[in-house]
Amino acid sequence: MDMKTVTKSQSPFSLFQEWMAEAEKSEPNDPTATALATATADGRPTVRMVLIKGLDERGIVFYTNLGSRKARELEGNPRAAICCHWKSLRRQVRADGVVETVSDEEADAYFASRPRLSQIGAWASIQSKPMKGRFEFEKRIAEFTAKFNVGEVPRPGYWSGFRLVPEQFEFWQDQKYRLHDRVVYSRSEDGWTTERLYP
Ligand SMILES: Cc1cc2nc3c(=O)[nH]c(=O)nc-3n(C[C@H](O)[C@H](O)[C@H](O)COP(=O)(O)O)c2cc1C
Repeated sequence: MDMKTVTKSQSPFSLFQEWMAEAEKSEPNDPTATALATATADGRPTVRMVLIKGLDERGIVFYTNLGSRKARELEGNPRAAICCHWKSLRRQVRADGVVETVSDEEADAYFASRPRLSQIGAWASIQSKPMKGRFEFEKRIAEFTAKFNVGEVPRPGYWSGFRLVPEQFEFWQDQKYRLHDRVVYSRSEDGWTTERLYP
């Protein structure tokens, strides 16, 4: 049997950072990609991929259009869950909790670090809304490219980040014969409690 098991760490955030750093070395692309589940206020769930752009003791940050389906769902119901799966490492990390919006300064700083065309794309995309055709999108890209021809591209007011503040994490490490190793971290008043679960 493969003896690589989940090492309990003092902080689930530092364990997540460790696993992410290893995924960055071994994944063929997008090692920070995670499935993000949200739900409407009456409990209808949806899931999609996003890129994790911040990971520290405060939580897990992703960026998106505030008019998108996910953002509107989070507005009505701030509970969310993520699930990362790294095939190259045979590992999974889950987390769930409540989201908060990041500060304008934080969103501005991340937006400024993006390639210019991605910044233009953030202006041009009315994310999750129907478009008549690809041409309509290309026209909007051309319009915003012309508008921001000179100088820095500012962050659109309708584009920002969310920070998921987890109440629970689960670290899952594949083992042979499906005898996997699972460790759950639950937030408590004085830190985190851990327990192993049957696979
Ligand atoms: C690997 C990957 C990474 C993605 N990263 C993001 C992201 O960071 N932010 C984002 O808004 N959409 C991202 N997307 C697109 C989303 O999955 C989704 O199509 C889009 O955000 C609209 O979702 P919604 O209508 O549920 O809001 C990504 C898609 C993939 C496949």
